[in-house]
Amino acid sequence: MNNKIIFGILALIIVGGGLFLILGNNSSNNKQQTLADENTVYSTGDVAQHNQKSDCWTIIDGEVYDLTSYVPRHQGGDDILAACGVDATSYFNGEQAGDSGRTQNHSLNGTALGDLAKLKIGSLAN
Ligand code: HEM
Repeated sequence: MNNKIIFGILALIIVGGGLFLILGNNSSNNKQQTLADENTVYSTGDVAQHNQKSDCWTIIDGEVYDLTSYVPRHQGGDDILAACGVDATSYFNGEQAGDSGRTQNHSLNGTALGDLAKLKIGSLAN
């Protein structure tokens, strides 16, 4: 009887330890994947391929962002489409207006900066 209990506890430790190792490894892989993605280097040509509402990448201050998921919830509406496929630093800094002729200095806006940071996918090649 005692042997059965000891065997049961050992089995639990082995199975539990195995699961912990597998799950632990997976989450550290995911973390590395995320970091690797953000460190990817793109050319202006790469970004230019993503120049539409349904697939919109942009460059701001030398960093590359995938705006696709953000376009439908941009508070300035479709003005953001002027950024798709190009370097939008001048738009973001309010130095150049969007298609509707409106613009604002986003670089002073905490919400815009915070939203942008979450969309980073890499940097521009030198
Ligand atoms: C070509 C690029 C862009 C243009 C022309 C543009 C234009 C505008 C305009 C005109 C507004 C004012 C909306 C209004 O109050 O009527 C606005 C607001 C806003 N935009 Fe953009 N935008 C651009 C890119 C972006 C990007 C890349 C982000 C962030 C990922 C962003 C985030 C925001 C936010 C958070 C607001 C609301 C600001 C506030 O009033 O608190 N925009 N945008």
